[in-house]
Amino acid sequence: MCGIIGRVGSDDAIDTLLTGLENLEYRGYDSAGVAVQNGSGIKVQKRSGKVSELKETIDSRLADGQVGIGHTRWSTHGPPTDENAHPHTDSTTDVAVVHNGIIENYAELRSCLTARGHEFTSDTDTEVIPHLIQHYLDSGWDNETAFRMAISELEGSYAVAAMLSGEHVLYAARKGSPLVVGVDEGTDGYFIASDVPAFLEFTDTVTYLEDGDVVVVRPNGVEITDLEGRDVSRDLETVDWDPEQAGKGSFDHYMLKEIFEQPTSLTQTIEGRIGRSASEITLEDFPPGSFTDVDRVLFVACGTSYHAGVYGALALNQAGVHAQALLANEYSVAAPPVDGRTLVVAVTQSGETADTLGALRRANEAGARTVTVTNVVGSTAVREADESLLIRAGPEIGVAATKTFSSQAVVLTLLGQRIAADVTGDPSADLDSFLPSLSNLPDHVEYVLEESDAERIARRYRESPSYFFIGRGLGYPVALEGALKFKEITYEHAEGFASGELKHGPLALVTPETPVFAVFTGEEDEQTLKNAAEAGTRGAPIVAVCPDGHPALETADAHLEIPDLDPTLAGLVANVQLQLVSYYAADALGRPIDKPRNLAKSVTVE
Ligand code: M6R
Repeated sequence: MCGIIGRVGSDDAIDTLLTGLENLEYRGYDSAGVAVQNGSGIKVQKRSGKVSELKETIDSRLADGQVGIGHTRWSTHGPPTDENAHPHTDSTTDVAVVHNGIIENYAELRSCLTARGHEFTSDTDTEVIPHLIQHYLDSGWDNETAFRMAISELEGSYAVAAMLSGEHVLYAARKGSPLVVGVDEGTDGYFIASDVPAFLEFTDTVTYLEDGDVVVVRPNGVEITDLEGRDVSRDLETVDWDPEQAGKGSFDHYMLKEIFEQPTSLTQTIEGRIGRSASEITLEDFPPGSFTDVDRVLFVACGTSYHAGVYGALALNQAGVHAQALLANEYSVAAPPVDGRTLVVAVTQSGETADTLGALRRANEAGARTVTVTNVVGSTAVREADESLLIRAGPEIGVAATKTFSSQAVVLTLLGQRIAADVTGDPSADLDSFLPSLSNLPDHVEYVLEESDAERIARRYRESPSYFFIGRGLGYPVALEGALKFKEITYEHAEGFASGELKHGPLALVTPETPVFAVFTGEEDEQTLKNAAEAGTRGAPIVAVCPDGHPALETADAHLEIPDLDPTLAGLVANVQLQLVSYYAADALGRPIDKPRNLAKSVTVE
C-alpha cells in the first residue's frame, strides 16, 4: 500500500504535491517521488527514504508546472531503492505513473514489452504501466485511449495516476485500491489521491471512485467514465473532517495527539446513539428488530481491529449469542460454514485492508449477511458490505491505531447490545446501568489521560528485554492490544496472554527482567490476581492496571489507575493506560513513533 497524490491547478503544483505526500506518509514511507509537467516535458525526482529527504533534494527543475503526481511507497515488489521509487516512466519520460496495489500479470507484460524493445530500470510491477501506455502511443493511439488500453490489460489491484507529456491532464483509474477525487473550483483546482487527508487542507469536496472507474482531470473539470468510456455518475460529497484534526497540532507525534483525542472521538462515536435519558440505544440503520433473523455472529478483522472484534465477540458470548472473532487472513483457509442467518461483521478502521476485504467478499459469496464497522465513509468495505456502521473517530494518521480501537470497541458493544436483545428476545437487563456508564466514558478517559503515571512507569522499565500483558474476559483483548502496540512502536518483544494461560507455558519465560502488565476489569479479578502472583513470585515486576484500593495493589510493584467501571468498559480505559505506556517507552527509546519500520497505516495487499 502506498500514497498517491495528483493535482491539476492554475499555479505551480510542486508544493501542493509535497504537502499531499507528507499528509499521506502514514500509508508508506520507504521511498517518495514527484513528477511535474512543464513547458519542457515531464520532470521526475524520487528517492528512497521519507518525504522530508525528498524535499531536501528537490531542485529548481520542478519549480514550474501546474500538473503533477506524487507517491510515497510501502514496498511490495522490489526493495526500497531510488530506482524502485515512483513515479515510474517509460524510456522517453513521456509518460509518468504512480501506482498503489499489485499488478499480478506484470511478469508476462514485462516480457512482452521487453521483446518489443522496452528497457526496464526497476524491479517493480508498476513500471510495466508507463511502458504499456507508451506502446499504445507508439501504435498511434491518442493519449486517453492509450491510457484506457493499458489499464484494460492489467490484472490485479490498482489505483493508478498517470501524466503524459505535452498536455495539462491527469488520468487515473481504480480497481481494488482506493482513489478519491478532490474538487476546489476556486483556486486550488482538482486532486486525485489515495485518501482524503492528502488534500483536506485544500478542499473538503470529494468524489469517491468505484472499481472500474477511469477519471480524466483537466484544468476545467473532471470526467468520470468506465473503462470503455461510458459516462458514470458519482456523487460529490462534503467530508466533515476538520483539517486541524488531521494535523499534529502541538503534539510531538500523531499517536500522542490521537491518544489524547479519545475523549472527543468517543463523544463523537456515542453522540446520538444513546438516548437523552441514557436508557436506550439508537443505531442509525439498525432499529430494534434488525437482527431477529440472526443466530450467529462472526467478526473478521486484522491487527488492532481484530482485537476490537475479539472484544465484540466476548461481549456477545457473555450476552448469550454465539459469536467468534476470526483473523481475516485466516478466514480464507478455514472459514466456518455460514448461511443467511450468519452475520459477518468486518471490522476495519480504514475500510481498505485487503485481508479483511477478502474475508468480506468470501462471506458475501457464501450468502452471509455482512456489516462493515469502519472509520472511513465511502471506503471499499462500506461499498461491498450489505450494511455499515461508522465509528466516527475522525482521521487517524499514526500507524499505531489508538482512538479507532476505542471507538470500534464502543460501536461493537452497542451493536452487540442490539443484536443480543434481538437474538435472545431479552433486552439487556444491564442496559440501565451500562448506558449511563458508557455516556460517561469520555470523562473517565479524560481523567486517565490527566492522571496517568504511564510515562514514569515506561521509563522505569525501558531496559527490559521482554514485556508481558495479561487479562481475563474483556481484559484479554486489551492485553493482546497492549502487546501489539508495544512491539509495534518500541521494537521490543511483547506478548499478550489470557491471564490463565500464563501457567501453561509462557511462565517459563518470566524472569525479574520481564515486567507483567496485569489488566483488572472487575471480571473474576481474583483469578487474574493469582496469575499475576505466579509471575510475581518468579521475580517479575507486576504493573497492576486497576482501580484505586484494588487488592492487586497489595503486591503490585507499580500502579496504572483506572476508574471503577462496568467491566464492559473498564478494559477500554485500561487500554488507554497501555497506549500511553507504549508511547512513552518508544519515546524513551527514540523510535520513529508515527512511522514504525516496515509498517504502514493501511495494508492493501494480501
Ligand atoms: O485499517 P484496518 O483497521 O483494517 O487495519 C488493520 C491492521 O492493519 C491495523 O489495525 C494494524 O494492526 C495497526 N497498525 C495496529 O496498530
